[in-house]
Amino acid sequence: MADVLVTYHSQSGNTRKLAESVAEGVRDAPNSRARLKEAFNTHASDIRECDAVVFCSPEYFGYMSGAIKDLFDRTYEELKDDPRSVRKPYCIVVSAGNDGSGAVRQIERLCKGYRFRKVQDPIICRAKVTGEILAKCRELGATLAEGISLGIF
Ligand SMILES: Cc1cc2nc3c(=O)[nH]c(=O)nc-3n(C[C@H](O)[C@H](O)[C@H](O)COP(=O)(O)O)c2cc1C
Repeated sequence: MADVLVTYHSQSGNTRKLAESVAEGVRDAPNSRARLKEAFNTHASDIRECDAVVFCSPEYFGYMSGAIKDLFDRTYEELKDDPRSVRKPYCIVVSAGNDGSGAVRQIERLCKGYRFRKVQDPIICRAKVTGEILAKCRELGATLAEGISLGIF
């Protein structure tokens, strides 16, 4: 059984669409459960109890969104030495107007601090959310869930 947390923040809906596709991909995989949660409603226990996390953030001012940063701020002390969270597989999905690299870099930096383990390359959606990028997100979710079920991640 793969239990994947997909946590996201979105103001105008782009990141939400990407996160929903990741969650659909997780559900495509056998014996898998996706929990799609807004970052402000995501807690340390959600991260501790899942098998993998997908952080989905818009890029704002060259950084992750404040809500995703808030999630890190609220959970770091509780999780940094928790054996159930150390080495937790994670992936990143970013929605950006034209860049996205700053958000990815900063999320990766914080995930290093948690000692999470990156298991797939980040997906950056620039400008329009296309069917192609949604398919990539769905594939990411399915790959992640299958990899966990098979013990690869
Ligand atoms: C306050 C603000 C700051 C932004 N800063 C950036 C930025 O630094 N780089 C970038 O590529 N896009 C930037 N954008 C564009 C958003 O990343 C883009 O529209 C994204 O798809 C929004 O995601 P959402 O619909 O999930 O809120 C910014 C948008 C807003 C509202």
